[in-house]
Amino acid sequence: MFFFPFLNHCPCMLMFLLFTLFFTSTEAYDPLDPNGNITITWDVVSLTSDGYVAVVTINNFQQYRHITAPGWFVGWSWVEKEIIWAVVGGEATDQGDCSEFTETFPHCCKKDPTIIDLHPGTPYNKQFANCCKGGVLRTWAQDPPNAVAAFQVSVGRAGNNKTAIIAPQNFTLKTPGPGYTCNQPKIAELTEFTSPNERRVTEAILTWKVTCTYSQFLVQKPPNCCVSLSSFYSENIVPCPNCSCACQDNSFQSGSCIDSSNSSNLASIVNSPGEKGVEPLVECTRHMCPIKVHWHIKYNYYEYWRVKITVFNFNYRKNYSDWNVVVQHPNFDKLTQIFSYNYKSLAPYGSTNDTVMLWGVKFFNDVLMQAGPNGNVQSELLFRKNKSSFSFRSGWGFPEKIYFNGDECSMPPPDAYPRLPNGCSTQEVSLLALMMTSFILLLLCTYA
Ligand SMILES: *[C@@H]1O[C@H](CO)[C@@H](O)[C@H](O)[C@H]1NC(C)=O
Ligand SMILES: *[C@@H]1O[C@H](CO)[C@@H](O)[C@H](O)[C@H]1NC(C)=O
Ligand SMILES: *[C@@H]1O[C@H](CO)[C@@H](O)[C@H](O)[C@H]1NC(C)=O
Ligand SMILES: *[C@@H]1O[C@H](CO)[C@@H](O)[C@H](O)[C@H]1NC(C)=O
Ligand SMILES: *[C@@H]1O[C@H](CO)[C@@H](O)[C@H](O)[C@H]1NC(C)=O
Ligand SMILES: *[C@@H]1O[C@H](CO)[C@@H](O)[C@H](O)[C@H]1NC(C)=O
Ligand SMILES: *[C@@H]1O[C@H](CO)[C@@H](O)[C@H](O)[C@H]1NC(C)=O
Ligand SMILES: *[C@@H]1O[C@H](CO)[C@@H](O)[C@H](O)[C@H]1NC(C)=O
Repeated sequence: MFFFPFLNHCPCMLMFLLFTLFFTSTEAYDPLDPNGNITITWDVVSLTSDGYVAVVTINNFQQYRHITAPGWFVGWSWVEKEIIWAVVGGEATDQGDCSEFTETFPHCCKKDPTIIDLHPGTPYNKQFANCCKGGVLRTWAQDPPNAVAAFQVSVGRAGNNKTAIIAPQNFTLKTPGPGYTCNQPKIAELTEFTSPNERRVTEAILTWKVTCTYSQFLVQKPPNCCVSLSSFYSENIVPCPNCSCACQDNSFQSGSCIDSSNSSNLASIVNSPGEKGVEPLVECTRHMCPIKVHWHIKYNYYEYWRVKITVFNFNYRKNYSDWNVVVQHPNFDKLTQIFSYNYKSLAPYGSTNDTVMLWGVKFFNDVLMQAGPNGNVQSELLFRKNKSSFSFRSGWGFPEKIYFNGDECSMPPPDAYPRLPNGCSTQEVSLLALMMTSFILLLLCTYA
């Protein structure tokens, strides 16, 4: 009965709604992966005559957000006059002004160097453990050995003893666009290194850690994906909202989308080289998204119900490898069987088990081929019903949120969802919306 007063006072309600919108769009973390972060560890492993050697390790501790080509760019600012003599397993993008030096030239003299990864196939003498993946970092859940990168940096003009060493400041992590914010380095427990033959353990001289978190709000880009819905109980297929990712009219110039019904167009992309994996080149659709996720309610059994999820690739420039989809639905606490995908329960709030991450099975459907007849992957999920909460009314059978590769997808508006035959009225739907808002309010009041 808490929320009745709000229902009677519309202006107040509106204020709270606006507040909720503001609150959700500026949050600096992802509600479905509240502890997700990329941690940069700076381990000083030895001292030199004018500085030290450090191992810099980048761990992707995010459940479902990876860094794809062209990879990570890690930067920082030196506090004093430090320079970089050499980097192994990475390189600085810019040497900077080394004119002060006359005999041996440092690798980088910039006050704010940026380091990038080397490519696979780098000569052995330039490699370092966990390096040379072209800056690509997989997710912690899908591929832990490839969720880590490292390089070694030899720092000069940094004093000749442990107490003189100052941690660099103002770390940045770019991909290469914005999205990540990093805190200042904090002293951490000394890292232990085990020798390759596991016979000897050494400890770092100094260890600092920097935590970088992602915010979709900082990126300020339109969604990359959209959701469409259907069910056995309605003939109505709810498409992705128009202009989910772009509008056709605005971007039609210079053939920026492909009309696949014209086969001469298709031939021209197949033959066009370059720009692979950069700007998407999508099939002309009303949503203009590179990715569409379709949720179909397939069967209703006595104790179970079944859903089919299909992911479509509309981007002619990219085969999404190691793709993942995150879905939020209240019935995921009773997921009984899943076909042809891997899955992991994320349980972001500890007790409420309503979010899962789905991804392809290695060598089978982990690569989502580019647009065309093979440009999709599908799976079916079987849920056991909870008789007291299960319902096909008011769109309960549809997901609350869907992410593709860590980006939230555009959903159709709730009032467009497929209806049960002679289903509930619009009034019921809007009452539900009101109740949901009040529930969010209640949560906010309880936890704020
Ligand atoms: C970063 O993620 C790791 C692994 O989940 C976690 O142990 C650590 O506490 C996180 N750091 C912060 C600052 O949230
Ligand atoms: C780090 O950033 C702050 C704020 O922009 C600036 O005042 C400070 O000088 C920077 N530190 C270094 C070492 O450049
Ligand atoms: C360490 O180096 C700093 C700066 O180079 C110097 O001021 C200090 O005396 C040195 N301390 C020791 C114990 O050598
Ligand atoms: C989406 O666009 C199509 C064609 O332009 C139009 O017929 C349809 O009504 C639009 N849908 C919405 C929800 O605006
Ligand atoms: C197909 O595309 C080509 C080149 O873009 C164009 O010249 C041709 O008229 C199109 N054909 C049809 C049937 O639209
Ligand atoms: C995607 O994979 C297919 C099949 O392996 C290949 O023919 C195609 O060139 C690839 N496309 C891109 C953009 O890499
Ligand atoms: C969440 O549900 C899944 C699937 O039923 C189950 O395997 C997992 O143990 C549950 N996790 C929690 C924290 O309840
Ligand atoms: C069924 O759902 C209700 C309401 O969400 C919940 O209180 C109850 O614990 C659930 N029952 C089971 C067996 O999970």
